[in-house]
Amino acid sequence: MTSDKHQRPLSAEAIKVLCSAIESETGCRYDVDGLDVPFDDLALDALSIMHVLEEVQDRAGIELPAAVFRDCANLSELVNKLGGANNGASSTSLGGQQLVRSAFASTNQLLAAIEHEAGCSNFWTDVHPDQMRLVRAYINESFARLGASLIDMAPGTPLSHPPAVLAKHHRVLDGAIYDILRDGGLVERRQGDGRYIRTARPVDPTPSETLYKNLLRDHPQHANTHRLLNATGAQFAECLTGQADPIKILFGKPVNKELLQDFYTNAPMSVAASKLLVATLRTVFSQITQAQSRPVEILEVGAGMGGTTKFVLDMLVEARIPFRYIFTDISASFFPSAKKRFQPYVDAAASGSAVDYVVLDIEQTPPPRHLQSRFDAVISTNCIHATRDLVVSCSNARRLLRPGGFFALVEFTTRLYWLDLVFGLLDGWWLFEDGRTHCTADEMAWKKKLDASGFDHLLWVEDGGRKPNPQLMIACTAD
Ligand SMILES: C[S@@+](CC[C@H](N)C(=O)[O-])C[C@H]1O[C@@H](n2cnc3c(N)ncnc32)[C@H](O)[C@@H]1O
Repeated sequence: MTSDKHQRPLSAEAIKVLCSAIESETGCRYDVDGLDVPFDDLALDALSIMHVLEEVQDRAGIELPAAVFRDCANLSELVNKLGGANNGASSTSLGGQQLVRSAFASTNQLLAAIEHEAGCSNFWTDVHPDQMRLVRAYINESFARLGASLIDMAPGTPLSHPPAVLAKHHRVLDGAIYDILRDGGLVERRQGDGRYIRTARPVDPTPSETLYKNLLRDHPQHANTHRLLNATGAQFAECLTGQADPIKILFGKPVNKELLQDFYTNAPMSVAASKLLVATLRTVFSQITQAQSRPVEILEVGAGMGGTTKFVLDMLVEARIPFRYIFTDISASFFPSAKKRFQPYVDAAASGSAVDYVVLDIEQTPPPRHLQSRFDAVISTNCIHATRDLVVSCSNARRLLRPGGFFALVEFTTRLYWLDLVFGLLDGWWLFEDGRTHCTADEMAWKKKLDASGFDHLLWVEDGGRKPNPQLMIACTAD
């Protein structure tokens, strides 16, 4: 960066101000998704540049030199260069890991803007407490229907598995539900034998039905997530006893299957994660394409209903980045609808682009033939946590990468208890046999597992103590 006026990295707020100033000057929609749109394409003349710089100075208190629009090709490069003052990463280096780390530094600064745009910046303060209240109501009502009402239990009474609960569902009680009750102060661990005992805290008497309606009314942007919780939460006791089948509820009813797909694709927190992923991929892949004139090679693990695929292909097509995309899943049952959904993307993409569909179980050593050491990126969203051993799965992902390639993971790293009421009823939630106590692992636990899988460095999004959930983690290989 040639600027001697601006010494600080741009904050997310400043980037937003810059985007909105460019938008009002050009009349073109310009937001954090447009990081790589060349400044040249915006047709900013000297007068408009002056207006943009004035607005950034007035609204963000930052004096940018006029030369930034000449020296940087696009906003991504501008953010990179200013961010580089802090993180030491060079944006001009095309060395794989350095390039990824530099791109990630820019992504990190977009967190607040992306969460705002996706509609989840208030999740922890406003939505989560109300959601937790509903989760506890479903549990309390379930215990009451199972003949073990917490309302009637005297303080000090040890909790035991209600007799009607199927043995296989003891895992969700022991591994999740008692934690939720403890966090709500309704039970505590007894010293000595470690059993959960009832405390004196009264049970919230508000019916789940009322709380559910309030949640839909007060937080409509998360409505489909509330509906998904309600699908199994309202029948939680019956699922535990086997009177209701969670698989039939979630996958047998078209309306609930759609809620699942919607959760991975459109829920505000999923959208934020996908946007963070795509912002990083866009910066890295644009530079790879420019430097090496070849399609980027990407493999997606556990692509399933294609929630993440859609975001990535949208970006690749829009940025005119040629690609070879391998859509994989352990089950081929997802392929027919994925082929139908994604063919138009291939038709619209830069020439030489293609999507292939391959069955891949990430718990097994990948077949050497097509897959070995080829990919610029392996991506996986909400899949790897549900495998037996994270080191085995992540080592297999690493084997697919070329030197300097990276493994982009989107995973919940902070426990969200509502997930236990939905996915905790399924076997996939409890497959782990690698020392975890719950399938959700935090960033430090992932780092240990990824280090042990042979990765060189782990990046995750964190800005001033704020972290997204699901989290975007990028595990880098050595160049
Ligand atoms: C929760 S879904 C997420 C789907 C998709 N990533 C999305 O965000 O829309 C998890 C996916 O991982 C797949 N899966 C589960 N175990 C797997 C394994 N061992 N190897 C590859 N895929 C697996 C499942 O079939 C399912 O499609």
